[in-house]
Amino acid sequence: MAEIVVRYEPRGAVQDLFRSTDPEVLLSGAAGTGKSVGALMYIHLACLATPKVRALIVRKTHASLTASTLVTFREKVAKEALAAGILHFYGGSAQEPASYRYTNGSVIVVGGLDRASRLLSTEFDLAFVDEAIEVTDEDLDTIVSRLRNGVLTHQRLIMATNPGHPSHHLKQRADSGRCRMLYSKHEDNPPLYQNGEWTEYGRTYLARLDSLSGARYQRMRWGKWVSAEGLVYDGFDPAVHVVDRFEIPGSWSRWWSIDFGFTNPFVCQFWAEDGDGRFYLYREIYITRRLVEDHAKTILSLVQRDGSWIEPHPRAVICDHDAEDRATLERHLGLPTSPARKSVRDGIQAVQARLRPAGDARPRLYLMRDSLVERDPELEEAKKPASTAEEFPAYVWAVRPGGVLKEEPVKSDDHGMDALRYLVAERDLIGTGSVRSPARAREGRPSGAAARYGRPVVGSSAQRVAR
Ligand SMILES: Nc1ncnc2c1ncn2[C@@H]1O[C@H](COP(=O)(O)OP(=O)(O)OP(=O)(O)O)[C@@H](O)[C@H]1O
Ligand SMILES: [Mg+2]
Repeated sequence: MAEIVVRYEPRGAVQDLFRSTDPEVLLSGAAGTGKSVGALMYIHLACLATPKVRALIVRKTHASLTASTLVTFREKVAKEALAAGILHFYGGSAQEPASYRYTNGSVIVVGGLDRASRLLSTEFDLAFVDEAIEVTDEDLDTIVSRLRNGVLTHQRLIMATNPGHPSHHLKQRADSGRCRMLYSKHEDNPPLYQNGEWTEYGRTYLARLDSLSGARYQRMRWGKWVSAEGLVYDGFDPAVHVVDRFEIPGSWSRWWSIDFGFTNPFVCQFWAEDGDGRFYLYREIYITRRLVEDHAKTILSLVQRDGSWIEPHPRAVICDHDAEDRATLERHLGLPTSPARKSVRDGIQAVQARLRPAGDARPRLYLMRDSLVERDPELEEAKKPASTAEEFPAYVWAVRPGGVLKEEPVKSDDHGMDALRYLVAERDLIGTGSVRSPARAREGRPSGAAARYGRPVVGSSAQRVAR
């Protein structure tokens, strides 16, 4: 085998990971403390040191793993070894999941739990679950049940996460003693902190985190498991409202809702409405620093092939009021747009009503997992919400001096929230601000823009949802 030198200085929580043998370890901490690099390095070094180790690296979805954790693995952890040919990537087949294969026979299987059956059909010595806060307790138990390959003396489940709500099942798993929680700090990350002081890069990085607010600030800056106070949509529960992707029948109506932005993100939400008036967000553009005409090109490339529509026309394109942006968008899309009903309080009430379970015990609004067309690296770097789903836990009521909540939300990181409100207001608010009951909304009388701009709904067969 070729020789390589791997330079890595494990500190703090990651050092504890390397020194311990606990069967379950959770690296918990603020943003960018080195959790993912540490866990990936542990797995990589184990595979290099011992032949025939079988390891697993997973996230909730295949798409999220590929976009983040595996980039870190390739560029920050296994770069030299990949260049030296000590391991190579195997893209997988219909029968076998993708993997990194080492020349000594060790293997790291990689994938998302959305494709779990293929992934978990064999046994492992080590598993790393990145962003573990996204996965269920059952997912973790299933992975633990596969940890019995027996090549390494200690079979281990390693998890990394930013903290969340204090009653989250991961926190409970740690509190009950099932897994050992190791708190990772910014000081543990050498590029941020050297010789007892912050580096220039470290100071810049922390300053960016200091601009966050509320629970997100406590979690991302300080690594605390805190609940969000004064949430506008406290009825939003990712376990209920975020659902796996499915094929949307071609007969369902489509709605596009847009909040313009350049320095702030431009948000275009694509919604499908089922026969009972339930909304599903199935695709989303959420991007900063791009011109409206370029967004229009992206949108058309998503809904058309060779100039023909591959999904139904939207019943309305509901927009923020900026006249110039609307005109540009209409010109480049070749579609009319309609101005959003922007009243905040009744719009919020209408969204809250949709999030609550209706008579059939199901809410009337859902977000499909992995709806983002493209993740904005600038927002990611700044630890800002980078999708509508990520705005929910950061969308809070403003507070008056003295601690009394105002009847309006804090106006930051609310671009997806605005677009969502525009859509729901369009469907559920009639006249001047009264909330239409879900039952009346179901009657489906096209309101406002839909009546004015309604287009024929094309395509009736089920279509594959391409984001
Ligand atoms: N021990 C280390 N030595 C050198 N660089 C490191 C080390 N740990 C982390 N880094 C650097 O810090 C960056 C952030 O690390 P990492 O992605 O592991 O953080 P994280 O805690 O997983 O962040 P997040 O909370 O966003 O998931 C890495 O891309 C890498 O450049
Ligand atoms: Mg990470």
